[in-house]
Amino acid sequence: MISFHYGNAMAPLVGAEGLTDEALQGGIVRTGLACERIARMRSDGKLAFAELPYAEDMIAGIEKFAEERRASFRNVVHIGIGGSALGPIALQTALKPRLINLHSVKDREFLPRVFFIDNIDPEETREILTFAHPRETLFHIVTKSGETTETLAAFMVALERLQQSVGDRFREHMVVTTGAKGFLRQWATREKVRAFDVPEGVGGRFSVFTPVGLLPAAFMGIPLRELMGGAIAMDTVCMRIEPQTNMAYMVALVANLLDTQRRKNIHVLMPYSRALRDVADWFRQLWAESLGKMMSLDGKVVNVGPTPTVSLGATDQHSQVQLYVEGPNNKFVLFLAPDRFRHDEVLPQKTAPETAWLAGRKFSELIAAARIGTEASLTRAGRPNATIEIPDLSARAIGGLMFLLEMATVFAGFLYNVNPFDQPGVEAGKRAAFGLLGRPGFEDEKKALETSSGDRARYIVR
Ligand code: PA5
Repeated sequence: MISFHYGNAMAPLVGAEGLTDEALQGGIVRTGLACERIARMRSDGKLAFAELPYAEDMIAGIEKFAEERRASFRNVVHIGIGGSALGPIALQTALKPRLINLHSVKDREFLPRVFFIDNIDPEETREILTFAHPRETLFHIVTKSGETTETLAAFMVALERLQQSVGDRFREHMVVTTGAKGFLRQWATREKVRAFDVPEGVGGRFSVFTPVGLLPAAFMGIPLRELMGGAIAMDTVCMRIEPQTNMAYMVALVANLLDTQRRKNIHVLMPYSRALRDVADWFRQLWAESLGKMMSLDGKVVNVGPTPTVSLGATDQHSQVQLYVEGPNNKFVLFLAPDRFRHDEVLPQKTAPETAWLAGRKFSELIAAARIGTEASLTRAGRPNATIEIPDLSARAIGGLMFLLEMATVFAGFLYNVNPFDQPGVEAGKRAAFGLLGRPGFEDEKKALETSSGDRARYIVR
């Protein structure tokens, strides 16, 4: 069972920098209605992403497509960026062995290798497209808007390579997931390329349980029903009306109060498992893009939002934790801890007399000890922290965890009084890049950039 332990964020344990029981209670009195409001939005069908685990037809369609096509390809290359890539990357690294693409075909159970192009890095793109030869590859092109420059650029290169290599049969090597409008939808319709939908009302960063995440997951052999089963079980927990029992609300409330009342505006997500590293990275985007906003829901300029960051335990104990324990007391550390790993490693008995104290210990014990030690040292230093425990690293647990973090983000939007579903700052950057690259219709953006570049030239050291 997934559980949230927030004692170390509370003043009785962590001291004055934590939340008092009164402050927590006050927060619940002020905002506990969020639970009813969000449950109502949910039952009115206004939280489209929360309906996805129940979307039987969508899931069956994805499973059928993957089953029919899986054996035909050695590779799947997923092209997308931001919310169109971080979810499936997280699913791959959480639920498949870290070096899965290096495993033999037999060890991979004859499943394709899945690679991601989520940048416009020329070297990386070249490397992946060379390694995953187009002739043996299915390309999954993902962009909700159908217009994102980075994704279109990689798509254009992939398409050219495909056409050079297989000619008109490129259609069999392409599948797109996109919104109802935009260039990619038009292209897929025109070229009769198979297209999956990003459902209406589901934003990019909330799209992991659409074909954006589930299609590559199905090609990887991840059991979609288990993943969705975990999300459905967590849905019940996140719809509880009693605030203290609603886990998503409590995660959001503790984080929000620590930010707004105790100036902990850096939120560190720290998984103690390599498998959860990219889940944390996915959450970093979710938290940042959903909560970092200029305008409040009632039209005031507020410029709010905690800064999320990711650390990996135990590795980053030897990189970041010194700062967390002794540097500025402006952080809330949220640990992610699996109770069980899929495999364990036992330390040998006879290495040397000096290491006898470690002999027979399991790695799972050592990593748990490292986490508990870090929790304790932060707490002793008056640094609020909390832990989300998950029972294991199964598809069910990961489905539940990701659904919890999505719902916590929605609750946090309510607590910060901002719209968690838009991203005007991201759109502004996209428009500026369109202007710079000469896209028709974006001439004003280009002019604005040219005007400011004159000033910039005065501030360069060579
Ligand atoms: O969460 C979001 O909406 C963004 O991060 C988008 O996913 C990202 O900008 C990519 O957009 P698109 O899917 O339209 O290419």
